[in-house]
Amino acid sequence: MPSLPGGFAWGVSTSAFQIEGATGEEGRGQSIWDTFVHSHEKIRDGHTADTACDHYHRYPEDIALMRRLGVDVYRFSVSWPRILPAGVGAVNAAGLDFYDRLVDALLAAEITPMATLFHWDLPQALEDVGGWLDRDTAGRFGEYAGVVAARLGDRVRHWITLNEPFEHMALGYALGRHAPGHSLLLDALPAAHHQLLGHGLAVEALRASGAGHVMLTNSYSPAVPAGGSEEDVAASRAYDTLHRGMFTDPVLLGRYPDLAAFGVDGDALPFVEDGDLATIAAPLDGLGVNYYNPTRLAAPVPGSPLPFETTEFEGVDTTDFGWPVLPSGLTRTLTDLTEDYGDALPPLWITENGCSYFTAPDADGAIADRARIDYLEAHVRAVAEAIDQGADVRGYLVWSLLDNFEWAEGYHQRFGLVHVDPESRNRTPKASFDWYRELIAGQRR
Ligand code: BGC
Repeated sequence: MPSLPGGFAWGVSTSAFQIEGATGEEGRGQSIWDTFVHSHEKIRDGHTADTACDHYHRYPEDIALMRRLGVDVYRFSVSWPRILPAGVGAVNAAGLDFYDRLVDALLAAEITPMATLFHWDLPQALEDVGGWLDRDTAGRFGEYAGVVAARLGDRVRHWITLNEPFEHMALGYALGRHAPGHSLLLDALPAAHHQLLGHGLAVEALRASGAGHVMLTNSYSPAVPAGGSEEDVAASRAYDTLHRGMFTDPVLLGRYPDLAAFGVDGDALPFVEDGDLATIAAPLDGLGVNYYNPTRLAAPVPGSPLPFETTEFEGVDTTDFGWPVLPSGLTRTLTDLTEDYGDALPPLWITENGCSYFTAPDADGAIADRARIDYLEAHVRAVAEAIDQGADVRGYLVWSLLDNFEWAEGYHQRFGLVHVDPESRNRTPKASFDWYRELIAGQRR
């Protein structure tokens, strides 16, 4: 394994709804995910996150695991409805106390906390008045950021505003596969802009509280044309515009990309008001990159509402989720960002990378998840390769510490370095946990 630059940070990532449980405890309000899980029959086998990994009660055990792993950084998310049960207004003191305890325990374990403010669990009360389709939600998000920063900002220096606004818009508002379950296709675009505006307002609130290091995390999945035809290449470009440009250009360049392929005038989006882009483009200290796989694109079938069709890679290994294992896509993500955004690009952090493999414990209870080790090892090498080629990457965080509630897939897709028994919630480190511990220790020598 090549040595990464001195000071490179190693970590793990999680999110509140996927691990905390305790959804009805200590004053927490309901989120769109509570509603979705309980009313849509859209979660495989009816799994819920009511208890999830019970991290709300077992966080000391999870911090002990991270300490054993030797990570520098832990990225978690704050549950908005735990802090502001109605999304706005009255603050739930018990919710803030929880994150206060978590942060103190992390610091005592010499682990740097990295807090994400929004990982998809919008307060249901805000969805009831329009959610991210409504411009006011951006303002509410800024206020919430201020409340959290006022309490934790003296100890948390690393902040992430949003997690993957593209995925949240696409899966939650365009395709209806995630909460809040809208199937609006391109009419979901206001949910992109309002999230980005919320990001900008949250940056202002964080800066006002003296926050040291602020990022936004996007998902990146480099577009690969299925063939050499002009149509496939155009499809690939259109996908890239929607997935990367739409969520990166406004933040780094202060403008939306050319959306002509979608029949939309990017310079005259009706929901963009004067001054919004300046707010959205507030300078950042880093850009979070979540990478799982590239996407292969072909020309759209006639009548398709979108100017592309996603297709499968042929002859490529896949994870249990069916996602292609192509680490070169991570190198390309990082080098393309570096080339395409030049001086406008802040340092990069891999805030999520990982894979789903359902490896059962053997007779002795050991979990030999060799495939995960191979995946992670190849992707760390891909990061090293990108750094060699000039990308400024400061950290790498594995998704995820724990097997957790994988959204619409319930507990079927398992990304953890640590197995969590779905009944007892007992934690068992997998072989990949030991591999990662050794990798981190080796990099420090
Ligand atoms: C999300 C995580 C999710 C992971 C695997 C990312 O899109 O941020 O919440 O569990 O991918 O699907």
